[in-house]
Formats: sequence, C-alpha cells, structure tokens
Amino acid sequence: MSAPTDEGDGQSLERVPRALSTREAWLDPFDWYAEMREDRPVRYDDDRRCWDVFRYDDVDRILDDPETFSSDPRLASAIDLPPEEEQSPILETMLTTDGDRHDRLRGVVEDWFRPRAIAERAGRFEAIAADLLDDAIDGGRMDLVDDFAYPFPVIVIAELLGVPSEDRPQFRRWSETLVETPTDTSDDAMEAFQRRQQQASEELADYFEAKLDARAREPRDDLISVIAEAAGADRLTGEEALGFCMLLLVAGNITTTNLVGNAMRCLTAHPEAMERVRTGDVAMESTIEEVLRYRSPVQALARVATRDVELRGMDIEEGDTVVPWLGAANRDPSVFESPEQFRVDRAPNPHFGFGRGTHYCLGAPLARMEARIGLRALFDRAADIRRVGEQLQPVRSAFIYGVEEFPIEFRPQHDVESPAH
Ligand code: HEM
Repeated sequence: MSAPTDEGDGQSLERVPRALSTREAWLDPFDWYAEMREDRPVRYDDDRRCWDVFRYDDVDRILDDPETFSSDPRLASAIDLPPEEEQSPILETMLTTDGDRHDRLRGVVEDWFRPRAIAERAGRFEAIAADLLDDAIDGGRMDLVDDFAYPFPVIVIAELLGVPSEDRPQFRRWSETLVETPTDTSDDAMEAFQRRQQQASEELADYFEAKLDARAREPRDDLISVIAEAAGADRLTGEEALGFCMLLLVAGNITTTNLVGNAMRCLTAHPEAMERVRTGDVAMESTIEEVLRYRSPVQALARVATRDVELRGMDIEEGDTVVPWLGAANRDPSVFESPEQFRVDRAPNPHFGFGRGTHYCLGAPLARMEARIGLRALFDRAADIRRVGEQLQPVRSAFIYGVEEFPIEFRPQHDVESPAH
C-alpha cells in the first residue's frame, strides 16, 4: 500500500525515523529493527510525533483490533488536515475507513479479486509479461525496474479497470504524482508538491467520472463497470466510486513493482537459491512469500488510537498515531527461525507482508500471481542473471521499501516459446 496521504503538515507521517534517514540505513533497516525489538519495542518518536511498534505480537494485536487502532487518519490529533473541500478523494476509501462503511466498500469488488477469479486471467497476464520482456531482453542487459517491474503491474491494473491502452502514459503520470513523497520539505517545495497532487487528483477524477458514466450506460467485463453498477444501485456515492477507481490504480502498482524488484535483489544476492527456483527444485510460491517477509514492499502502516490504551507498559493516548512496523515484525526471532536468513523454502511463513485483519490486502492474490508470472517469464528468457552497477537508491517513501533502479546482466535465452497472445 502507498503511504497514508498526510496532506496536513507533510511531516509527521511521511518522515522516516532519524535512525533510518540515510540512504544506507533505509536500504537495510534490519539491524536497527533488531535493536528496537530488543530494547525499545514500543517507543514514542518526538520528531515524527507517533508511536513505533516493532514486535510481532504487538503488531498483531494492533492490526487485530481496528476498534482501538483505527485506519482513519482524520482521527489523529497530531496532524492538521486541510478543510474538507481541499481533501483529496483518496482519503475516502476502504483503506481509510473502519467498520460497516469499510465492509460495504470492500464488498463491492471483493469477488473480483478472489484467487479463482484472478486465475482466469493468467493467460492475459502472461502475454503482457512476454511482450515487455521480449522487447527488453535482447542486449543481455536491462533495468529490471524501468523495463519490467514498473510497467507490468500498471498495464495489468489498467486492463482490469478497463482503461484503453492509449491512455496509459497519462495514467502512469497521474499515479506517479499521487504516490510521490516530497524530499524537499521547504514551504515553497511543499506548496508546489501539494498543487501537483491536487491537480493530478482532479484530472484523474474527471477522467474516471467520464469512464464511470460511459460504463453505467454500457457495462463491460471490467472493474469500472462493477463500480458504476454499485453506484447506480446506490451502494456507493459518486465520491466513493471515484475514490475506488483511484485507490485501485495507485494501491497495487508501486507495491507490486517493489515485490518483483526486491525478489531479484534477494535472488541475485543468493545465486544458489535462484538456481533452485529456476529449475523448479523449490516452489516459486514459497520464494515469493519469503521475499514478502524478508524485504517487505510495505515496511510500516499507520493507525490512530481511538481511546487511551496501554501497550507493553506504555500509555498511548486517544488520537495518537501508532506505526506498526511490518518489516520489523517479519524478522522477529520469537516467530521466525533464523529470521535474518533468506530461505526460499521457509514454511510456515506467517509474515505480515500484506497486513492482517480487516484491511488485509485486497490485491494479495493478484500481486502473488503477477510476481509468479513475472519471475517465471524472466527466468524463461534470461540465464545467469547478475546484478550490475554500484549503488542502490531506495524508493523515496517512508513506508514503501524497494529500489529505484536495478540494472541486471544475463544471457538471453531465445529458444523459449512466448505464450499465445
Ligand atoms: C506486493 C504487492 C502488494 C503489497 C505488498 C500490498 C500490501 C498491502 C498492505 C500491507 C495492506 C494493508 C494496509 C493496512 O492495513 O492499512 C494492503 C491493503 C490493500 N491493498 Fe495491497 N499490496 C499489494 C498489492 C496490491 C494490489 C495489486 C492491489 C489491487 C489492485 C492492492 C489493493 C489493496 C487494497 C484495495 C487495500 C485496502 C484493503 C482494505 O482496506 O480493506 N494491493 N496492501
């Protein structure tokens, strides 16, 4: 999931803890997590004005109790949200609502995202992966992120929503702007950033409004039609229908990009494990679960306490923001044996990579399938994959974890048959 939109002071939720503010620390925050799990498992950060929670049991407790730990950022006392009319519709989605309203919203598209429904579209996803890779593979070198891990989920979700391919460049520009985290927090830069985001969300809203109207008149086999139908039957307000389209566009893109990127970061660092996965000696499924645990694309979430509550002897007050660190819980030695080892055949693997509880990732079956298809398509076309280049650059976000670029070299395999288009 993308970082919660904090359009208030732009500081408290978006900033990483000071200990993780360097490039190196954010690329590998795991030693710091270990220290915190041990010494300060629940701690208040004065800079960011929020609680950080690191142990598995505590993260579990928070995600399991949405009545006490709400997903609605407007309940937070530490952030000053702008007036109602300036808020982007992205705040009004299943991700940021609780209780009945959340369940009603999620219910609209739940069936569409079930594993069996997603599996029916596998052939089409394979064709998309093949197209992208066949274009990129020839020179024996590519940037995994730019050439593949980035465009693949964007194209998939555009197709599921029912957006014509010629609109994709616009789509990409809007979604990039919406998930951007400001690096320069000076007043001028923040103002420009907020104007950019506001403009992107207005353009996107106009775009989807037109699409929703068109599908209400003439439904097709796509998600926009499902959403338009629910709005027509008064199961969604117009604003909720728009928020829905925008959430589905942004929620699954940068996360899935980073799952594929992080998978190759793990596997190129463990060539013997990569070989086992390539040859089928170990399942792609368990490999992907281990990447979700070991280098989780979403490292942290945000909740707001709805009442005073005690956690490991600390007094959390109503309105306080609480940050459960999924990435730290996923390496808790009280749950995972040798948690600092990357084991492609780890089982069981009860990681929090997709969250837990009522907000458990709606797109998990889709993301798993995209990762499986994407990695298989890559292994079918490239042998001896190696990472090249010196320094990695982390994605600029306080919650999303991955790298901006990941150049690789390999031996192209031309003897594979592309799946039928
Ligand atoms: C590897 C890829 C992905 C990861 C790591 C991921 C991670 C997560 C996490 C951790 C949450 C829980 C948020 C919370 O509790 O506050 C979540 C929720 C969600 N995800 Fe994903 N996600 C991924 C891909 C996708 C895709 C492909 C889609 C859909 C197109 C999607 C749609 C959603 C939605 C709609 C929610 C909100 C569910 C709710 O509030 O009930 N995600 N995701």
